[in-house]
Amino acid sequence: MIVAIDGPSGTGKSSTSRAVAEKLGLRYLDTGAQYRAITWWMLSNGVDVNDPVAVADQAGKPSIVSGTDPLAPAITVDGIDAGAPIRTQEVTAAVSAVSAVPEVRTRMVELQRAAVSGAPEGIVVEGRDIGTTVLPDATVKIFLTASAEARAARRSGELNGAVTVAATRADLIRRDTADSSRTTSPLAKAADAVEVDTTELTLTQVIECIVTLVEEKR
Ligand code: C5P
Repeated sequence: MIVAIDGPSGTGKSSTSRAVAEKLGLRYLDTGAQYRAITWWMLSNGVDVNDPVAVADQAGKPSIVSGTDPLAPAITVDGIDAGAPIRTQEVTAAVSAVSAVPEVRTRMVELQRAAVSGAPEGIVVEGRDIGTTVLPDATVKIFLTASAEARAARRSGELNGAVTVAATRADLIRRDTADSSRTTSPLAKAADAVEVDTTELTLTQVIECIVTLVEEKR
C-alpha cells in the first residue's frame, strides 16, 4: 500500500499524512523535510543557493537520513538532528531555489524510493511530485488543495501569529509559483489523483476522507 499525498504549501499535508499513516499502520515520509534538510546544509556550508551550478556541485555531499515513524518523523543531516533548523524562515525562503536543481532532485528521489522499498507494511509519502514522478504506480494518489486565504491563516496560526497572515500568504504564493513553474518535476496533480479541497473541511474530515479512499483499495 503506497499512498502519495501531494499539494501546495499549507494544505495540511503533513498533519493529514501522519494521521493517515498512524491510523492505517503505515510508515510515513515527509519529502519536503528532505529538501529543507539539503537546503539547510547548503546554507550552513556557505553555498550560494541562488547559484544552481554551485548547488548541483555540492548536492551529493550531505548524508540525509529520514525516519519513517509517523509519530516521530526525525531527520538528520550528517548525523545531526535537523528537525528544528529546517523550519526556519531562512530555509523556507531558500528551499524552492535548491529543490529546483535537477541534481538535488535526483538525489532526493533515490532516498525516497529507498524509503518506500524499506517499508513492506506500506507508506504514506507526502510532497509535490510524488504521484507524478517519484511513485507513479502509487496505490492511492491524493492532491490536497485549499484557498490561499485558508492556507495562509493555517500557517500563520502554526507560527502562533509571529508572521502575519498577509506576509504568510505572499510567501506561500511565491513558493507555490516557483514550485509549479520549475522545469524538473514541478508541483502538479497526477492525472489519476483524487483532488480533495480542504478549504471548508476540518482536519478530521480530511483524514477520514483519505482513510476511506485507502480502505477501498485494500
Ligand atoms: O512540504 P514543505 O513545505 O516542507 O516543502 C518545502 C519545499 O520543498 C517546497 O516548497 C518545495 O520547494 C520542495 N519540495 C519539492 N518536492 C517535494 C517536496 C517538497 O520540491 N516532493
